[in-house]
Amino acid sequence: MPAQTMEELVSLCKRRGFIFQGSEIYGGLQGTYDYGPLGVELKKNLKEAWWKANVYERDDMEGLDASVLMHRLVLRHSGHESTFSDPMVDSRETNKRYRLDHLLKEQTLLVRQNIATMMRLDNAEDITAIVSAMMEHPDKAQVVLVGAQVIEAETGKPGAWTAPRPFNMMFRTTVGPVADLESYAYLRPETAQGIFVNFKNVLDNTSRRLPFGIAQIGKAFRNEITPRNFIFRVREFEQMEIEFFVRPGEDEAWHEKWLEARLAWWDSVGIPRHQIEILDVPKADLAHYSKRTYDLMYNYPSLGFEEIEGIANRTDYDLGSHTRSQGDMNLSATVLPNEDSTQKLTVLEQTSNTHIVPYVIEPSAGVDRAVLAVLSEAYTVETLENGNERIVLKLRPHLSPIKVAVIPLARNKPELVETARKIKQDLQKLAWGRILLEDSGNVGKAYRRHDEVGTPFCVTVDYGTLGGEAENADLKDTVTVRNRDSMLQDRVAITDLAEYLRSRLFG
Ligand code: GAP
Repeated sequence: MPAQTMEELVSLCKRRGFIFQGSEIYGGLQGTYDYGPLGVELKKNLKEAWWKANVYERDDMEGLDASVLMHRLVLRHSGHESTFSDPMVDSRETNKRYRLDHLLKEQTLLVRQNIATMMRLDNAEDITAIVSAMMEHPDKAQVVLVGAQVIEAETGKPGAWTAPRPFNMMFRTTVGPVADLESYAYLRPETAQGIFVNFKNVLDNTSRRLPFGIAQIGKAFRNEITPRNFIFRVREFEQMEIEFFVRPGEDEAWHEKWLEARLAWWDSVGIPRHQIEILDVPKADLAHYSKRTYDLMYNYPSLGFEEIEGIANRTDYDLGSHTRSQGDMNLSATVLPNEDSTQKLTVLEQTSNTHIVPYVIEPSAGVDRAVLAVLSEAYTVETLENGNERIVLKLRPHLSPIKVAVIPLARNKPELVETARKIKQDLQKLAWGRILLEDSGNVGKAYRRHDEVGTPFCVTVDYGTLGGEAENADLKDTVTVRNRDSMLQDRVAITDLAEYLRSRLFG
């Protein structure tokens, strides 16, 4: 059974060195988290699994690693400068800022019914409609928020609300020594834009034909009004994104194919189909570039079903937006006129000898939300025969931060430690990931710790391995291998150890 509460995961992550609050020793920087020794391994393994499935195992994909800092014109023509905002409202009493939809969601149904009535809407459950109506009439909305006595969680009392207004979520910074009006750049709010602006570079260097994709994993930044729920909503996060370019008209079929492919991948990292709901995003909630989006909603502990990945049909919006002088093109999307770009982002269709702007299907998953989901699914509490509880992280072996722990039975016996070190070094050469020499001297505690961090196998070197005593003679050059999930132990010859582990880790 997966984790029951977010607190269980937060506590495990801190206790075992997976994830820490960013800038913690200065009180923390809200919306930032740092991945510790085990977190960095888990995250790296997850990204590698995604890259392997989506780049190496396909014949229609290229990889890319674009800059985080982007020219302001990229984000102007992508539409983010004008539309990438959340509606927010301030409290005059506490000076705190809230996302309007989150604020409304937290109110009782009765309060929402009053708001809906005052805004002349029928459905008090349709928060999107209430937010849109309020953003259209912000002055009226302010009167309604105060009149309906919308509670501020901070004080538990009706708040002194301002009129709602849009708040752009992009981080701006200045580039170069002079901070004037023209010298700013953005930290990208999605990795996707790096792919669109490199479309021509990749096409020219690879001679790809449609359909094909470009994959990228990297950081994205959003000045979220209310970062919350641990690493679920943060201001700096990573995305694993694919922009898959197809012929117009073939987009809807590819959208369905990608939906299936992505569900299969989630299953391969331990997130079963029944833990994901597919949301066909209502038209009113679609991003400015999307014709249709499926959101994959994972059942997070304490949160319920929330987005882990969006799979959008971005049409010809992005390549069209970044194309110079689109006037002579037959774009389906409405885009800003562009005389700033130097390129036409088109492909030559050999059959018709015409230039077309491809459509884009975009599976976009959050790495941090994936880490959280994988941890949640793997988190298991078992009651042992003696009545004690053990926490065990049943991660798929390819994701485990430590693949094998090698434990000498006693830390003060140099022969045991040296044999363990040699085994560790030999296994390390196989490049499976982290192999740990665990010489704390207490095997029971080491097993418990490695259960909690998801190490699939512990190898123990004992006196039998050294074969000194006559009664141990047949154990010479063998070790004990303990399986994390079954807790069963096998005695394995050191010469067979690598194959024994390989077949069970990567079988
Ligand atoms: N390029 C499309 C795009 O960025 P999105 O739905 O805004 O679409 C894609 O983001 C994914 O990125 C989400 O499904 C989520 O997993 C992750 N994500 C978005 N905002 C996030 C945040 N503030 N913190 C953590 N992950 C986030």
